[in-house]
Amino acid sequence: MATSKDPGVEPDQTPDSLDTCHRCALYKDATQGVPGAGPRHAPLMIVGEQPGDQEDLQGKPFVGPAGAMLDRALEEAGVARKEVYVTNAVKHFKWEPRGKRRMHKTPAQREIDACHYWMDRETADIDPKVIVALGATALKSVLSDSKAKLQASMGHPIDHDGRVIVATYHPSYVLRAPDPETRQAAYRAIVDALSEAHRLLKKKR
Ligand code: URA
Repeated sequence: MATSKDPGVEPDQTPDSLDTCHRCALYKDATQGVPGAGPRHAPLMIVGEQPGDQEDLQGKPFVGPAGAMLDRALEEAGVARKEVYVTNAVKHFKWEPRGKRRMHKTPAQREIDACHYWMDRETADIDPKVIVALGATALKSVLSDSKAKLQASMGHPIDHDGRVIVATYHPSYVLRAPDPETRQAAYRAIVDALSEAHRLLKKKR
């Protein structure tokens, strides 16, 4: 039974598969839900915002331009992507049309909250020791705090629910930066955060 004003949305639904998730309305305009990817029990989890255009089409996280940027930063930080579990706070692509293109739209808090159902399941399943949150949406989801602020959380790891959270910019921020200096500084911050996560993991082993 739908409990929202939108007949397609069932916020209390407890689906077994993303394919049948109607906890928010984003499923309606997306090609598919995009689950996380990576080894079960990976000690490091990386959380992004939501799938982009390419991820929506391919059904895999971080395979488009932001994924290429993330791969470059991971390599520079000495972290093998195949050993990391990569996922998103929101599992369906939220977009609006601009001409023939589908432009990313930032998810609303109610959509982050609805999708926390999947984040909880993934976090329990993977049980990572360290989580890197890429951008404000990821940080809000990982900390379950709608007021979490990215700038204030960067540069110092946060102990949360028995795990360590490392916050940094989203790779798309690097791609959208207006000038080379901002781009370089944001990219360095991501590499530094991934290096810090790697160092923390080694300390925990
Ligand atoms: N941006 C994200 O946050 N996640 C993806 O999977 C791709 C782009």
